[in-house]
Amino acid sequence: MEQTLVLIKPDGVLKKVAGRIISRFEDKGLKIEALKMVWIDEELAKSHYEEHIGKSFFQRLLSYITQAPLIAIVISGPEAIKVVRNLVGKTNPVKAEPGTIRGDLALDLESGNIVHASDSQESAAKEIDLFFSAEEIYSY
Ligand code: CMP
Repeated sequence: MEQTLVLIKPDGVLKKVAGRIISRFEDKGLKIEALKMVWIDEELAKSHYEEHIGKSFFQRLLSYITQAPLIAIVISGPEAIKVVRNLVGKTNPVKAEPGTIRGDLALDLESGNIVHASDSQESAAKEIDLFFSAEEIYSY
């Protein structure tokens, strides 16, 4: 089994689609091992999005991700990183296929792409560690 980190970003919380997003993962048969609402500060945002520091959209990304609380979730399942990213869809909601979470529930990068999902085993391990202590993750 593989673990991945999903964030229902502040725009997903503000749009009140968190339940529908969580259902997509549950409907697929994936397992929720940890879940919490957090209002992250700039320090955590910078650690989480370290690889984007210096990019043209970085300051906007910081304001966007710290504007309201988000919901952090550890999801597990066979090849969970790939399976979750397939369900989530392309980064830019304009290009995300209908049927994917971003394709169905988000409009464009300007208004937000409502979810984040780890893109590799390395980033999943780092991101899970940033948001959760080992005691907060349930193996069942
Ligand atoms: P996420 O999958 O969380 O990873 C990086 C985030 O940066 C991305 O989703 C978007 O929320 C945000 N972002 C804003 N503009 C861009 C862009 N031009 N390219 C990639 N990501 C962007």
